[in-house]
Amino acid sequence: MKFFVDTADVKEIQELAASGLLDGVTTNPSLIAKSGRNFLEVIAEICKIVDGPVSAEVAATDYDTMIKEGDKLSKIAKNVTIKVPLTPDGLRACKYFRNKNILVNVTLCFSPAQAILAAKAGASFVSPFVGRLDDVGTDGMQLIADICHIYAQYPEFKTEVLVASIRNPMHVVDAAKMGAHVATIPANVIKQLFAHPLTDKGLTQFVADWQKTGQSIL
Ligand code: E4P
Repeated sequence: MKFFVDTADVKEIQELAASGLLDGVTTNPSLIAKSGRNFLEVIAEICKIVDGPVSAEVAATDYDTMIKEGDKLSKIAKNVTIKVPLTPDGLRACKYFRNKNILVNVTLCFSPAQAILAAKAGASFVSPFVGRLDDVGTDGMQLIADICHIYAQYPEFKTEVLVASIRNPMHVVDAAKMGAHVATIPANVIKQLFAHPLTDKGLTQFVADWQKTGQSIL
């Protein structure tokens, strides 16, 4: 399973990249607004830190402007992945960019039917939003199970399931059990994945016992 981080905070990305666990990055207009920085500059900086796919979302909602924006974004670096919304114009733009061999992440997927359309449009990634479904009383992880099941029936579908809107470690674990290809995870949730009280307790004990030996490995 690949781990992307869902952030436009360059410092956060630098720290996670150093961990060796990071396979890519996703951003969206809200995360760019939160960063308070220039979109094109941030994407260029992120692409220098991370070799894997870096999603940069078009701002337009009409096909012609999406194409202009996506073409410009794709020139920033080879690993820029154009993020388009799951709309008729977005999927048409997806086809356009895929024909140019540019990676595309189709975002704002909330139903299995939409995920089928994204795969048929040749998306590199489809982003189903689990947390936002949970928020409205719908089982977000059931959507992931449905999409993974449907895609598995059609080997010609090359679209990777990129689980988005992740809010907690169980979203990641459940997505992994379902065989989702990628999870895009907020940095705080990546940190939570490490946490277990028995790890902390065990380590404290080992450190104390090692000190009793009076030895040094180095
Ligand atoms: C995905 O690419 C989106 O950027 C993101 O996962 C949305 O998450 P949110 O619902 O926490 O805003």
